[in-house]
Amino acid sequence: MSSTSGENTGGGLIGWIDARFPLTKLMKEHITEYYAPRNFNFWYVFGVLALVVLVIQLVTGIFLTMYYQPSAEEAFASVEFIMRDVEWGWLIRYMHSTGASFFFIVVYLHMFRGMMYGSYKPPRELLWIIGMLIYVVLMAEAFLGYVLPWGQMSYWGAQVIISLFGAVPGIGDALVEWIRGDYFISGATLNRFFALHVIAVPLALLLLVVLHIMALHEVGSLGPDGIEIKERKDASGKPLDGIAFHPYYTSKDLVAIIVFLIAFSAVVFFAPQFGGLFLKPANFEPANMLKTPDYIPPVWYFTPYYAMLRAVPSKGLGALLMLLAIVALFLLPWLDRCRVRSIRYRGWEFKVALGVFVVSFIALGWLGLQPATEAIYIYAARFFTALYFAFFIFMPLYTARERTRPVPERLT
Ligand code: HEM
Repeated sequence: MSSTSGENTGGGLIGWIDARFPLTKLMKEHITEYYAPRNFNFWYVFGVLALVVLVIQLVTGIFLTMYYQPSAEEAFASVEFIMRDVEWGWLIRYMHSTGASFFFIVVYLHMFRGMMYGSYKPPRELLWIIGMLIYVVLMAEAFLGYVLPWGQMSYWGAQVIISLFGAVPGIGDALVEWIRGDYFISGATLNRFFALHVIAVPLALLLLVVLHIMALHEVGSLGPDGIEIKERKDASGKPLDGIAFHPYYTSKDLVAIIVFLIAFSAVVFFAPQFGGLFLKPANFEPANMLKTPDYIPPVWYFTPYYAMLRAVPSKGLGALLMLLAIVALFLLPWLDRCRVRSIRYRGWEFKVALGVFVVSFIALGWLGLQPATEAIYIYAARFFTALYFAFFIFMPLYTARERTRPVPERLT
């Protein structure tokens, strides 16, 4: 039977479906005849791993929602109930809390790969921007989720983050009240955060991930040499340096998924709190609006930005720095003026700058976890914040004068 989309798939169930829905066409376009560079390395597994974590979070989240109670009176106790009384509840909860941290580990490595190999350069600017939107939405999702157990850190963390919106000129105070839905953080805030965390933001995230893959398959994957494989094709139109995603990369990705699940299980079963980095001890205490904790550090994946916030005396300026730190990442495709994509063929200027960027991001992350009592931490945070921004501000200059090495015609 021949389908309306021109695929000739014979009879049977598939043929019946193909005549009504482009099943074979989609499978070919996105899986069996999607050609990717034949030299993907370690760094190319994190996109698929991000998909795996996304699925883990969605599935465990659905089960948590069956027992969790989104009210200020019951939220904390309902999480304890899940941990102690619901069959396998502890496993579901620890998978979800560990999944949040693993999501960021995977996404940070995925973004770093993009920076190393110039995946954000033309024609992949939109792919990068969609990726950045995913990152921002993911941060919102993680923040909203952290408030739900209604522990001390949930409550006071929300207090710190929501109060940042007070720095918006003119409408700050009204905006804070609108977000809270009350004059202080209350059950009303918890209710809306629950609605956003389980419905609105996951929907946005899923939609963005679909758009991300569509954009990727439109322009094609780049690979660590930064060479467009579409530019050299054989007589049948298949890229000479490309191999089909299935079975070549599905099998390779499967190995990465298994290794990933082993590491993930090790944390879930043996160190779910991860020394206080993934789950903070203070969050095993119920929220108490009359008792401000001495120290309210965010979860590790936010700490680089938190260190910037604390590096300057004014909250308004700190909030602005955090915002600019993320905006700068969106602008990478236009700040980088070098025509060569991959770090393999770029000059020392970019290699040094990227190294400085990574060191400053990790140093800020570490500083954000330290109590702000020592002046040395504040000065160090200022220093690394300056380095972080220097990477972006001077990028148009040092990338324009880079002495690059010749990029080979074919994959090496
Ligand atoms: C839920 C989060 C995400 C998922 C599920 C996801 C998924 C994927 C997948 C499956 C690929 C192809 C395989 C690979 O190259 O690793 C990919 C490629 C890519 N992603 Fe993501 N991604 C996510 C977040 C991000 C973020 C936050 C960014 C950057 C800000 C980003 C930027 C890119 C770029 C530039 C490519 C193309 C790489 C190339 O061809 O060289 N992604 N993504």
